Formats: sequence, structure tokens, C-alpha cells
Amino acid sequence: MAFDRPQVPPDEKAPVGAAPVPFVVTIDGVGHVPAFSDERVLVSLERAQSLGRLPELRIKLPVGCRRGGCGICRARVLKGNYRSEAMSQEHVSREDRDLGIVLCCSIFALSDITLRLEPAPKARPRTVVAADS
Ligand code: FES
Repeated sequence: MAFDRPQVPPDEKAPVGAAPVPFVVTIDGVGHVPAFSDERVLVSLERAQSLGRLPELRIKLPVGCRRGGCGICRARVLKGNYRSEAMSQEHVSREDRDLGIVLCCSIFALSDITLRLEPAPKARPRTVVAADS
């Protein structure tokens, strides 16, 4: 499985020991939750849902590997800044990233953000590499 490891500009990395910064993550048309700069957006959403703070979200948040590998927590960021960790290229292509597609378990808010949960794309054909002969 290929992972895209984004480079985070040094000025976007939180200094070691810095206090987490509070932000608001809004799910478009659903509601908003508090989030912190040092936690994965998926964690913020899960916490809010478990506390009953996303009653308009009629599905249980899709959660799988929690580390950018399974693609189940796919979303599109509509507004705001974030930094990301590795995401599977199988589930988020470079073109997807340019369109704001992310995996909620692999992003951290750098401002208030608005996102929309996205269904996982239909399975993409896997690249087959011929064996050396
Ligand atoms: S939970 Fe697997 S990619 Fe987010």
C-alpha cells in the first residue's frame, strides 16, 4: 500500500511543548464540534458523537484503522487550514488532495474548518507490476 507523506512547512508544526490551540470543526449541514490542534479531527468528531453532540449525524462515524490506511473516514475540507499525516494513495490520490479530499484520522486543524463526509470511492483498479523475467 502506497502512502503519500506530505511535507509540513516548519512554520505549521507546533513547537514542542506548545499548548494545544482550540478550534471548531463543522460538518457541513450537520453541526460543529470543538477540536484541538494536537488531535486528529476524527478523534474530535468521535468524542462529540459519543457525547451526543452531533444528533443530526444520522450515521455512526465511519472509523477503521485510524492511521490513514483504510480510507473509511474520507471527507472533503470545504474551508479552513489543516496539516496532514500520511494517507493511503489508494484512497486519496494526489488529484483528490488538490480537491481537499482527506482522511479525517490523518488531519489536524490549524484553524476552524468545515468539511463534508464523503463516501469512499468505488474500488480503484490496483496497479499490477509485471515481475522481472
Ligand atoms: S480510519 Fe482508516 S483511514 Fe481513517
